[in-house]
Amino acid sequence: KAIPRLEECYNLFDFEHIASKVMKNAAWAYYSSGADDEITLRENHAAFHRVWFRPRILIDVAKIDLSTSMFGTKVQMPFYVTATALGKLGHPEGEVNLTKASHTNGVIQMIPTLASCSFDEIVDAAQPGQTQWFQLYVNSDREVTRKIVCHAADRGVKVLCITVDAPQLGRREKDMRSKYVPPATDDDDTGATVQKGAEVDHSQGSARAISTFIDPALSWKDIPWFQKVIKDHGKPMKLVLKGVQRVEDVLLAIKYGLDGVILSNHGGRQLEFARPAIEVLAETMEVLDRNNLRNRIEVYIDGGIRRGTDIIKALCLGAKGVGIGRPFLYAMSCYGVDGVNHAMNLIRDELEMNMRLIGANKIEDLDRSMVDVRSVDQH
Ligand code: FNR
Repeated sequence: KAIPRLEECYNLFDFEHIASKVMKNAAWAYYSSGADDEITLRENHAAFHRVWFRPRILIDVAKIDLSTSMFGTKVQMPFYVTATALGKLGHPEGEVNLTKASHTNGVIQMIPTLASCSFDEIVDAAQPGQTQWFQLYVNSDREVTRKIVCHAADRGVKVLCITVDAPQLGRREKDMRSKYVPPATDDDDTGATVQKGAEVDHSQGSARAISTFIDPALSWKDIPWFQKVIKDHGKPMKLVLKGVQRVEDVLLAIKYGLDGVILSNHGGRQLEFARPAIEVLAETMEVLDRNNLRNRIEVYIDGGIRRGTDIIKALCLGAKGVGIGRPFLYAMSCYGVDGVNHAMNLIRDELEMNMRLIGANKIEDLDRSMVDVRSVDQH
């Protein structure tokens, strides 16, 4: 199908629009779908519309520095590429496109457990010094999980993000209707290697087909086990929970000695009517600040981040950084690595311009006084 030139993509929504027209049905259905009626999916971005700026004036904003750090790693922009499964559904080179663009733009890539490329292929595609995190789905067989974690540590991963919002896969009806059919030739193309030997039922869509191994019994009691596995292995990794949705659980994460939390509802693909992360962030940072706990844990958010202003709002409210998912998948599916680079350039331009307009030279200048969240609090 005819596809607009890359230069005609002026913002991240453009990629979504083009992807909806040109992607294969099964891939589009898997990437774009959300749970049930997709209310949380819709609200993830819409919630940013309820936060307003309180810009400062007459600040010298000739120079803007977008760099910051995430778990001690310097990054060029305050976002990372979050983990999204099945990259080869959209593009033959899959997640490696994201690895390359992340390097070019100086940002971190979170490698998914259910990547289409193998974990080692994705690590091998990284340049020396490039930082990658690993997203973990915990297998019911803890020995399998232990090996995966140790292997990630051996390959240089320093941050392990355990997904905690998916004890069962949400019901994504668009994906189910598309009845994902596995490629006939190569099982690896689906990421199916991660759960060899499991009976895979493809009649319920991609998501359900690949996720049968995830352990619904995972609980807080397992956290010390992970800490011990990492300690015994002798290669330090930060431990992060991905999918936290209330401040009480952030406080528990601090109590358990975790290094970070990602406030996220899995891009609206899990619990329908889960709140948008920007709202959970506002609630969380208020409590952390009141109890002098902000320095105890790094807080990130993901879900619905499509504009530079969305990122700036999150940072004003106290996030250390944000994760972005679908826009890079759409850019990759339509234009390969060039598309992802272009998407990241657009974000850079939007960040730079809006930092100027809000009166902030650098990321540390962003604080809560620069946003008005009254309509979030009342919500
Ligand atoms: C995801 N997400 C996800 N999360 C995770 O922990 N493990 C996974 O395997 C996946 N897979 C996945 C596939 C696809 C197609 C999507 C869209 C998302 C969730 C992801 O990490 C993140 O939470 C959301 O994508 C963020 O929302 P946006 O940026 O897509 O709106």
